[in-house]
Amino acid sequence: MFNFNFSAPTEIVFGKDTQHGTGEYVKKHGSKVLLHYGGGSIKKSGLYNDIVNSLNKSGVDFVELGGVVPNPRLSLVHEGIDLCKREAVDFIIAVGGGSVIDSAKAIAVGVNYDGDVWDFFERGIPIESSIGVGVVLTIPAAGSESSSSAVITNEDGLYKRGIGSELIVPRFAIMNPELTFTLPEYQTGCGISDIFAHLMERYFTNTTNVDYSDRLIEASMRTLIYNAPKVFANPNDYDARAEIMWVGTIAHNGLLDCGRGGDWASHNIEHELSGLYDIAHGAGLSIIFPAWMKYVYQNDIGRFVQFAVRVFDVDLAYEDLSAVALEGIKRLEKFYQNIGMPIRLSDADIGDSDFDQLASKATDRGNFGSFASLGKDDVLSILKLAL
Ligand code: NZQ
Ligand code: ZN
Repeated sequence: MFNFNFSAPTEIVFGKDTQHGTGEYVKKHGSKVLLHYGGGSIKKSGLYNDIVNSLNKSGVDFVELGGVVPNPRLSLVHEGIDLCKREAVDFIIAVGGGSVIDSAKAIAVGVNYDGDVWDFFERGIPIESSIGVGVVLTIPAAGSESSSSAVITNEDGLYKRGIGSELIVPRFAIMNPELTFTLPEYQTGCGISDIFAHLMERYFTNTTNVDYSDRLIEASMRTLIYNAPKVFANPNDYDARAEIMWVGTIAHNGLLDCGRGGDWASHNIEHELSGLYDIAHGAGLSIIFPAWMKYVYQNDIGRFVQFAVRVFDVDLAYEDLSAVALEGIKRLEKFYQNIGMPIRLSDADIGDSDFDQLASKATDRGNFGSFASLGKDDVLSILKLAL
């Protein structure tokens, strides 16, 4: 196990009706506020009215900017930065999922910066200042409600790139599982897929002696496997929604990184896929992850056998370790299919015509991946396995 520092500063406010207290939490952190949200879902569900009523009741002075799309765009971030500068905004409340939260984080970083905020994404320059962000979460998925990262797509060249800084970790996250009852099945599936991927990126590590965090990750994956069918059978199953929502946060708040390295190659490849084709992040991951696994499992077959046995209850002859590992990957693919996710590029109507571009973009800053270091040819091989 490595040495580590751990801090999870986001105040989590979890449970029924918690959105009605939003104004009081916002008031603690800001005097002039931007209310940031996505497309129509929060207006349709009535959440928008709940938030506006709560802000008004607490006497919060706010302006608003909606219109964030999945795979959030840089142009709206620029718009938000201009608005915040003009209105002297000092805090952003993001109401939505990872896309809205990431857009809010990018705006927050740009408010006190004189250049183009894209500099941070493209050149990786250190972030020195950010206004605060708070969250009302509507979809358990990206884990952005308590993470230190944000991912934005630049329409100019379709580059999807991320930033990371402790300064953008949200100050609070209001999480009412009831707000997720309105999620379409497909978005529920995408969310579960992303959470599962965040767990696997951490699980497939070369760090040794990490039994406790291995077990925590396995428990988190098993909780998803157990509760996913329940929310598909009954979208209003509060307890199952709550379990998934809480796993989503823990999967990405840094707790499961303690003392161990992660891989993140599948996320890197997927970001190129959703940057270019604008598919949902969770759907891209269910395509890329099994292909990555088939490509790298022999690097540490013991870890893949452990995954198969402890997470998916594979019970095969131990003398054929490859068969056990591959059966684990097969059961993962079955799990994805059961939650309505694609497992091949062809399921998402994507062919091989852009493979070269995808692999070049993924590796334009060098090799990546810790469990297995990948260059351009490796990415091409993984994409072929995903066809
Ligand atoms: O825009 P609206 O109308 O709200 O619809 C959204 C959107 O179309 C809908 N939705 C959300 N909550 C709903 C709802 N519909 C009905 N009822 C509700 N309660 O769902 C759609 C997807 O929303 P989005 O915010 O895009 O989903 P998600 O949370 O999966 O975020 C995905 C983004 O996060 C990034 C991804 O790359 C992607 O851009 N990630 C961010 C991370 C981070 N900051 O730490 C880590 C992740 O690995 C990921 O890369
Ligand atoms: Zn993700």
